[in-house]
Amino acid sequence: MSTATLIEDVIARKVFNSRGEETIEVDVITTSGFGRASAPAGESRGKAEVVYYPNGGVDEAIKKVEELIAPELVGLNADSQEEIDKALHELDNTNDFRVIGGNTAFAISVASAEAAANSYGLPLFQYLGGYTAHELPYPLGNVISGGKHVQGKAPDIQEFLAIPHGVPSFLEAASANVKIHKKVKEILKSKDVFFNGGRSDEGAWTANITNMEALEIMANACEEVSNEVGFKCSIGIDVASSSLWSPEKKKYLYKREENELNSGEQLEFIKELIEKYQLAYVEDPFHEEDYESFAEITKKVKNCLISGDDLFATNNERLNYGLKMHAANAIIIKVNQVGTLTDALETIETVKRAGYVPIMSHRSGDTCDWHIAHLAIAFKCPIIKTGVVEGARIAKINELIRIEEFLGDRAKMAELPIIQGG
Ligand code: PGA
Ligand code: ZN
Repeated sequence: MSTATLIEDVIARKVFNSRGEETIEVDVITTSGFGRASAPAGESRGKAEVVYYPNGGVDEAIKKVEELIAPELVGLNADSQEEIDKALHELDNTNDFRVIGGNTAFAISVASAEAAANSYGLPLFQYLGGYTAHELPYPLGNVISGGKHVQGKAPDIQEFLAIPHGVPSFLEAASANVKIHKKVKEILKSKDVFFNGGRSDEGAWTANITNMEALEIMANACEEVSNEVGFKCSIGIDVASSSLWSPEKKKYLYKREENELNSGEQLEFIKELIEKYQLAYVEDPFHEEDYESFAEITKKVKNCLISGDDLFATNNERLNYGLKMHAANAIIIKVNQVGTLTDALETIETVKRAGYVPIMSHRSGDTCDWHIAHLAIAFKCPIIKTGVVEGARIAKINELIRIEEFLGDRAKMAELPIIQGG
């Protein structure tokens, strides 16, 4: 057995994410390699996500790494991912990582994988995905922000996104999203003299506009850019409906629009939006326990990805339940929703067997880590959701540009299901 990947040390420290929140960063040092990963954080988190940190926050998590986790991991092989992730589960011994923290597990799990890749002298995507991994994901990027990601007046829908398709290269796809982002700024400036160029955590524009105004602006920008670049750029939305849902009233509360919709009305509303704006992608159109409505809308619309984020929380059990119900046809993969790479991979394998579309995703509070760029390719996710601009987003986009260059002639855009719009 090779000793190159033998773990010699695990070091944890406190750093900050893009929102300035404290987060954990972990270094895993092997005999011949090194890996480093820091954990992201969500703002509109799903209820089924693991607990990020133990009581006592990041400081307590670091203490746990030093006193409890590092002594167990030193001497293991960094390429024994399952063994490492199993050790993390055993040390925690709860079903939601509340003892050691899901973000602690995440940082260790990803840093170990990188350390193993580095020990073998391989890029992470090839170490995890093998030499056949060569397909670049399409970038799905946030252009206008609303909902919980914005303070003050903004659309109630959380994200208005762009996704180019039929593009020959990742670089051209990412450039198209940047063009759309710029075009939307111009339109917002021309429509609202008070627009001051404000941007959300994810680098998307924040403006005092309604849902419909945001969609009209996106439609104009996507059309202009599609004509300019010669391939289609479609619109997507993340409704993040759990943030709108009132369990007491059993209604979705659209505060900006002073409107309240019951489940049936929500379904009609979303269906109308999909048809009118030829939406290619709709995330969390219903709250996180409403599998039935997810199933109903999936049945009723064509060529539109209906994606579960809070609904599945990257959790294999929740996904299996959703599959039985025929809820959604796509799933957001956020590794820190479940804690470890092994857990996320188990979910992705179920996704693939079911023919759903896996979408690798950032979090609204993220770091300049680039690992998800590699994970998207290694785990064959045809789409990556990671913003258009802003440092933490650009870190992932730029890494994909580097990988595309590294792969040269072997680089290929992933197979995307047929989606409408553009
Ligand atoms: P987050 O939300 O704030 O939980 O990262 C992003 C999303 O809903 O996709
Ligand atoms: Zn979401």
